[in-house]
Amino acid sequence: MEKGQADNITRKGGKKSKITKILIVIFLIAFLFIGIIIGIYNFRNYKLYKYITSSSEEEIDIYYNFKYMLIWNKTIEYIKENKKEVNFIGKNYTISIPSYNFSKYYDFNIDIYDEISTNEKFKNLRVCIVDFTDFQDRYGVGNIKLKLSDNMRENKILDVYKFENDETILYKKALDVKDGYINFNIEDDTCNKYIIVNVPLEDIIIENEVLEIKNNTSLDLITKTYPDNATVSNFNFKSNSEALSISSDGIINAKEAGEYVIEISEDITNIKKEITIRVIPVALEIRPDKQNVEIGIGKNTKINVSVYPEDAINKELVFESLDENIVTVDNEGNLHGNNIGECDIIIKTKEKPIVETNIKIKVVEIPQIVDNNAGLTYINGVLIANKKYSLPATYNPGIDKTALSAYYEMKNDAVSSGFSLEIMSGFRSYDTQRGLYNRYVNTYGKAEADTFSAEPGKSEHQTGLAFDLGWVDDDYAYTAEGKWLEKNCYKYGFIIRYPKGKEHITGYKYEPWHVRYLGNPLATDVYNSGLCLEEYLGI
Ligand code: DAL
Ligand code: ZN
Repeated sequence: MEKGQADNITRKGGKKSKITKILIVIFLIAFLFIGIIIGIYNFRNYKLYKYITSSSEEEIDIYYNFKYMLIWNKTIEYIKENKKEVNFIGKNYTISIPSYNFSKYYDFNIDIYDEISTNEKFKNLRVCIVDFTDFQDRYGVGNIKLKLSDNMRENKILDVYKFENDETILYKKALDVKDGYINFNIEDDTCNKYIIVNVPLEDIIIENEVLEIKNNTSLDLITKTYPDNATVSNFNFKSNSEALSISSDGIINAKEAGEYVIEISEDITNIKKEITIRVIPVALEIRPDKQNVEIGIGKNTKINVSVYPEDAINKELVFESLDENIVTVDNEGNLHGNNIGECDIIIKTKEKPIVETNIKIKVVEIPQIVDNNAGLTYINGVLIANKKYSLPATYNPGIDKTALSAYYEMKNDAVSSGFSLEIMSGFRSYDTQRGLYNRYVNTYGKAEADTFSAEPGKSEHQTGLAFDLGWVDDDYAYTAEGKWLEKNCYKYGFIIRYPKGKEHITGYKYEPWHVRYLGNPLATDVYNSGLCLEEYLGI
């Protein structure tokens, strides 16, 4: 019994010690396991510490999951003392902490994800989410630099969105990425979560339907990215000519007609696009040869108009009288005075774009004819000697000094252009003209002589205001000198007095050598009108 009891006790005592043993073994195994784990992490931390202390670099990258470090303090102290900057690199991103902030850090933790957002907006894009929630709350650190993974740093610009909740995503800004780092100031911001997005640009789209522009106008080039949410910096614009400029924000200014090429490029991707802009020359200005016209009732005059630029595609003009009761006008600019009064003539381009100007017209009684009692006829201040109005035989003024000095000025310029422009005949007295005329009548008969020689008293040469220049020959009109005279004499106050095509009005055949001094601006006005003096004065 006792034995049995003793056995029992022994058995009992044996059971106890077995359980104890098992517990001890389990405890030892657990202790060993914990010890190994601690040992591993300590060993890893030790290696980290050794690596940092042995590195002479000021900036060190460490692949380490610092969340599990146990002797972290020592490492931090070392970094602080040595003012090193250490980048703790996670799976794809790196947190870089400036050394002056290290005193605030202890056992911190940041979650950085590299994932595709479930949000439709970012679907299939290169996206990463950064969450500073714990970090900010626990350590009060303001600035943080994230080193980006390669697929994110490809682009120098990344868009950053605030991520307030699963539904709301607010655009923040496109942040510049320098040397693969992106900066965050999380202290300034109420938001802790961000989405960083990189949408590579694939193409530059020009949205303008027409790339045609009129000279001297502007066009706003409308550019778009493809895809339209691409992360881009500004586009650069470059024109191949100074005649077509383009500003940094894409506003084109065309100065001259032509075809130009504009290059649009983007710095980061080097994607380029070239477009051709056509600049069409259109009328910019209508320049009439006079702004005010005075015309007698029943009389005609002409307005000559130049349209600029000369190669404008819409040069054809339309003339319109605002009161046809006063004046009528045709599309050649020929005016006819109908009744006394004043009104405007509108001159405009026939085709669009319409450019217009207006001229003031005054219709007066009739040309003012003055006989100054000395037998001289002045019409609107112009001394007339023609087949209708003659000069008295006693009128013998000699050469007009003003006309002569105008001639010398003209001759001077003619000589500079290589011409002599000599006076063949200037002032002719009544008697001289009589001798001449009679000689021609005797030689050619009166009918023919009357086509080129004035009867005494009817020659302009007797006014002292007319000159025969160069040489008296029909072919003078075809010489360089004759052409120069025809084209330039009005500038000096002269007109070709007997023009081609006006023989039936002047009563004389074309005399390319015979000029009459009127002074300016009258000579210019008569020249521009294309009318002979009789027509111009309406006599
Ligand atoms: N030859 C011009 C018409 C004159 O005789 O005056
Ligand atoms: Zn003459």
